[in-house]
Amino acid sequence: MAKIIAGIASSHVPAIGAAIDNGRTEEPYWKRVFAGFERSKRWMAETRPDVVFAIYNDHASAFSVEVIPTFALGCAAEFPPADEGWGPRPVPVVKGHPELASHIAQSVILDEFDLTICNKMEVDHGLTVPLNLMFGSPREWPCPVIPLAVNVVQFPPPTGHRCFMLGRAIAKAIESYPEDLRVVMFGTGGMSHQISGPRAGLINSKFDKAFLDNLTKDPDKLVHMPHLEYMREAGAEGVELVMWLVMRGALHRKVKEVYRFYTVPASNTAVGHIILDNTVPQRSTARKTAKRPVAKVKRAAARARIDRVRS
Ligand SMILES: [Fe+2]
Repeated sequence: MAKIIAGIASSHVPAIGAAIDNGRTEEPYWKRVFAGFERSKRWMAETRPDVVFAIYNDHASAFSVEVIPTFALGCAAEFPPADEGWGPRPVPVVKGHPELASHIAQSVILDEFDLTICNKMEVDHGLTVPLNLMFGSPREWPCPVIPLAVNVVQFPPPTGHRCFMLGRAIAKAIESYPEDLRVVMFGTGGMSHQISGPRAGLINSKFDKAFLDNLTKDPDKLVHMPHLEYMREAGAEGVELVMWLVMRGALHRKVKEVYRFYTVPASNTAVGHIILDNTVPQRSTARKTAKRPVAKVKRAAARARIDRVRS
């Protein structure tokens, strides 16, 4: 059966893509950013997943204001890089996994999450920049990628709770796929940033670092955070962080933080990145059920003592 072996979160700052495409990665400003992903690339080269499931948002590239799906699942065989105004990025075409994607669509929609199915879709920097950060700049991406585009551009975006629960449904779908595939989940976007208005350039490192802490140890603290809190604390575009909760919802409760990187700024954005190992042993249900009879016996004994006192 397929299984999710890890979750990764990463910002998808467009200027990072431009730095790669224009050969500026060795400039001191950008070297600081790319150095933080060197260990991640080694981890990815060693891990060699069979499939990446990448949660990202489209920035008016594949979708315009005319059509705004809340959750759009890419079921196509390939996803070309989109022209974002200065020509498509010089990156490989993203190859999909139509069989697994269709299986996920079937399972998740019957689980009452109404996905939009995309059999043709171009992908922008939201997807391709994290692929660069994790895989470098190969001639071909080393594994198929299933894109899930989440609307965080036009209000109302989905709630963090909805995203988290969708992640759970996606995990259930992946883990019921009969082929032995090792899947890595990507959550992209964030961290704190605001690109327009009087607060343009806002970065809140305290909020970002607490978000990273909770993402690993206590995601329940993040799940019910309202959009207004994201906007107040992390800027208007900081609401992209709800996409990380799809990734986290697909992981087990207990995960191991393998690596974390945080730096500011990149362009006008805080860059956050984390790798979570999803193969950590979980508390077995056998232990939980073994405790129940003992508790029951204790409660029954206590009730018996009370009855004896009363009588
Ligand atoms: Fe974005």
